[in-house]
Amino acid sequence: MSNSSIEKNMANAEKPETRDEFNVEIDGTVGSPFVDNPKMSSRNCDVFYADKQAIFNVNLDIAKHEIIAMIGPSGCGKSTYLRVLNRMNDTIPICRVTGEHTLDGEDIYAKNQDPVLLRARVGMVFQKPNPFPKSIYDNVAYGARLHGLAANRSELDDLVEASLIKAGLFKEVKDDLLKPGTGLSGGQQQRLCIARAIAVDPEVILMDEPTSALDPIATALIEELMDELKANYTIAIVTHSMQQAARVSQRTAYFHMGHLVEVNDTKTVFTNPEHKLTENYITGRFG
Ligand SMILES: Nc1ncnc2c1ncn2[C@@H]1O[C@H](COP(=O)(O)OP(=O)(O)OP(=O)(O)O)[C@@H](O)[C@H]1O
Ligand SMILES: [Mg+2]
Repeated sequence: MSNSSIEKNMANAEKPETRDEFNVEIDGTVGSPFVDNPKMSSRNCDVFYADKQAIFNVNLDIAKHEIIAMIGPSGCGKSTYLRVLNRMNDTIPICRVTGEHTLDGEDIYAKNQDPVLLRARVGMVFQKPNPFPKSIYDNVAYGARLHGLAANRSELDDLVEASLIKAGLFKEVKDDLLKPGTGLSGGQQQRLCIARAIAVDPEVILMDEPTSALDPIATALIEELMDELKANYTIAIVTHSMQQAARVSQRTAYFHMGHLVEVNDTKTVFTNPEHKLTENYITGRFG
């Protein structure tokens, strides 16, 4: 072996890097992961499940009033990273999150942060609609009651109605508010969960594949809703549908094997991706 190749091997040994199945190097994030005056940001984020690392040094800003889409192959860490942003990983005992994470510049992992209050500010909608076994009314009122957001019954009634209107569900359920939430169709249940999330007036809404179980009509309703919601909220959505990412988001983040490979404005990601791995994924060569 020549001296130069030994030097090269030594350099590689010092600088851990990941190569994927296509032998493409993953080293840092290309594109524009940072913005001025972000709503949320992460620096040097690693996540481990016991001793298995699931997220590697993610650095990302999420802008105010944007919809950012998070895409990538199954198991690449999208849900894990999303859960970092509202400390849902705290509920998984073997999960350990490192790095700095802020909401309006405030450390969300600081000792004095109450995760329950944080989750009111950074709400979440899951892949599988998960209404509580309560009435439609009580589902929406749940967080408002927990956080004392309404002074009396009539304020609570108004809040429930306003949240259901914003979630595009009110007309369909206005005569059935005392019926169980679990009796609604899948698409209605998902809009109920969105109403529940927005009833506590969050600043950020995290959505993990919110329409993957829905038909195209229910999906279109939720996509329209997201577009309206972004006037008041910041939204991060994980999706396996590239059409959906292209339709709803302004920026797109591509994850691969726990690494944040590329972040760019959505048009760039889908028409002129910077990284080979992003290109492979969006052209269907992977995942
Ligand atoms: N609760 C858990 N305990 C142990 N390992 C987990 C847990 N949740 C996720 N992982 C692991 O972390 C890695 C990333 O998983 P994650 O669920 O974040 O991927 P994903 O990109 O959301 O995938 P999908 O598109 O299939 O939802 C995977 O290797 C997964 O096995
Ligand atoms: Mg997931």
